[in-house]
Amino acid sequence: RGSEARLAGEIERLKGELNAVVLAHYYQEPGVQDVADYIGDSLGLAREAQATEAEVIVFCGVHFMAETAKILNPEKTVVLPDLEAGCSLSDSCPPEEFRRFVEARPDHAVVSYVNTSAAVKALSDVICTSSNAERVIASIPEGTPIIFGPDRHLGRYVAKKTGREMVLWPGSCIVHVQFSEKKIRQLKVRHPEAEVLAHPECEDRILALADHVGSTTALLERTRTSPAQEFIVATETGIIHQMKKASPEKRFIPAPGDGPGCEACSECPHMRRNTLEKLARCMRDLAPRIELDESVRLRALAPIERMLEIG
Ligand code: 13P
Ligand code: SF4
Repeated sequence: RGSEARLAGEIERLKGELNAVVLAHYYQEPGVQDVADYIGDSLGLAREAQATEAEVIVFCGVHFMAETAKILNPEKTVVLPDLEAGCSLSDSCPPEEFRRFVEARPDHAVVSYVNTSAAVKALSDVICTSSNAERVIASIPEGTPIIFGPDRHLGRYVAKKTGREMVLWPGSCIVHVQFSEKKIRQLKVRHPEAEVLAHPECEDRILALADHVGSTTALLERTRTSPAQEFIVATETGIIHQMKKASPEKRFIPAPGDGPGCEACSECPHMRRNTLEKLARCMRDLAPRIELDESVRLRALAPIERMLEIG
């Protein structure tokens, strides 16, 4: 606790000295969330990165999120506490394989989830996140076939919502596919009044049990506005920190995973590579930094800007 307070104090001081802003995703450990200037979902973080006047962006999230901030802000220094903080979904879509997939379907519009590398974004027509995917798909003219990658669960969910036919890249997230349908059903019996909240990266059979499906920000908002007093939360457990802060009188039950005795399976191992210690160190050293090839950056920028224009 003492060292947490000391690190938090140092981070505050460095923010002023560096003219830095600390952006954090809801899946960061609570101590990291508590020192952030802004906490949000992927879309909120991209917007904040676009709007900030700070000279240094300290990105507490995974690599593709920090990379998106750098694509939008080439003149700024963007640091990530741990450069190895990747994403299983992004890793499931290697750029060369995706290029062949796209080239085999030249008449298709390419919609890529933000959980991709800059090289995959550079092959895309427009980017989406879990909070704007339906709007982004609706912006593609009727009759134009769509490639959607890399998350097949989000893709299937959005295809169902919009009624559009989509060719899906077969990727998925290690955290969101491990929830147990059986254990959630058992929890619902024990907590009949509880609302089930799920992120659209979950499998269909989990989404079928959910009362509310949405991005991390949308799920947090639902806990604020819902009359329910109990929630079963099927997403990364880091977000429960903000849910508890917003509604201290309500109860939040993490959706159980399939693995036996799996206490931490709903924590994203990539997100959790960032710690308060590494956060302070990356501000002290101004490293590790996100650096990008300019031609890839420009090609990745166009579909991100298209997404941000859609609103
Ligand atoms: P959100 O955009 O909903 O925050 O999701 C990001 C993510 O990585 C989900 O696993
Ligand atoms: Fe990637 Fe899944 Fe972690 Fe989100 S929770 S960053 S999709 S591995």
